[in-house]
Amino acid sequence: MNVIPFLRPATPADATAIADVCSRAARQAYAPLVTPDYLARVLSHFYGVDRVRRELAPAPGWSGFTVAQADWQVVGVAGSGRCMHRADTWELFVLYVSPEAQGHGIGRLLLAHAVADARRAEATHVQAAVMPGNLQAMRFYESCGFASAGTRPIYAPHGEEGGPEVALVYERAI
Ligand SMILES: CC(C)(COP(=O)(O)OP(=O)(O)OC[C@H]1O[C@@H](n2cnc3c(N)ncnc32)[C@H](O)[C@@H]1OP(=O)(O)O)[C@@H](O)C(=O)NCCC(=O)NCCS
Repeated sequence: MNVIPFLRPATPADATAIADVCSRAARQAYAPLVTPDYLARVLSHFYGVDRVRRELAPAPGWSGFTVAQADWQVVGVAGSGRCMHRADTWELFVLYVSPEAQGHGIGRLLLAHAVADARRAEATHVQAAVMPGNLQAMRFYESCGFASAGTRPIYAPHGEEGGPEVALVYERAI
């Protein structure tokens, strides 16, 4: 990539681009790991434009969406907030870099931004949940100082059939 990306808070005008980046990166990462039906349910539950639009702005315990922009394009998205199970922990709920922009440090940049949000919220730890088999994400979190911290039941309001039973938890003290 020739253009240096920068981060900014998402605006309503970004909703379609955010849904697109999340959907394409999720498809790339999860298609080898789950059934096509499960993947379709994940994409429509989490990354429809209407839901993205509703969750765009910060709220108590939620960072809102941050986008990475390069050459007038949204190339990455992050969203993080207070962990539902541990009050001292901040969770990275959304982290996606568009497939063509991966491997250029954008994920690391978005993660550093989420860690700064976590510190502002006085959290002591940051966690991310990774789908078993998502080796790229596992290597990414390890290289960013996270360590494996066991498993938890997967959060699957879209339905569990066709997907994994647990998520791998990665954690870092901050
Ligand atoms: C995981 C993801 C967010 C990483 O973003 P990225 O911009 O590609 O990652 P970066 O370029 O910032 O990489 C940071 C470090 O992670 C590691 N890493 C990233 N991709 C890797 C890969 N494919 N294989 C091995 N290590 C990798 C490297 O150590 C890299 O540091 P280096 O370039 O100095 O060696 C991105 O690949 C992605 O969106 N994947 C698909 C969706 C997904 O799995 N999201 C996470 C959900 S939990």
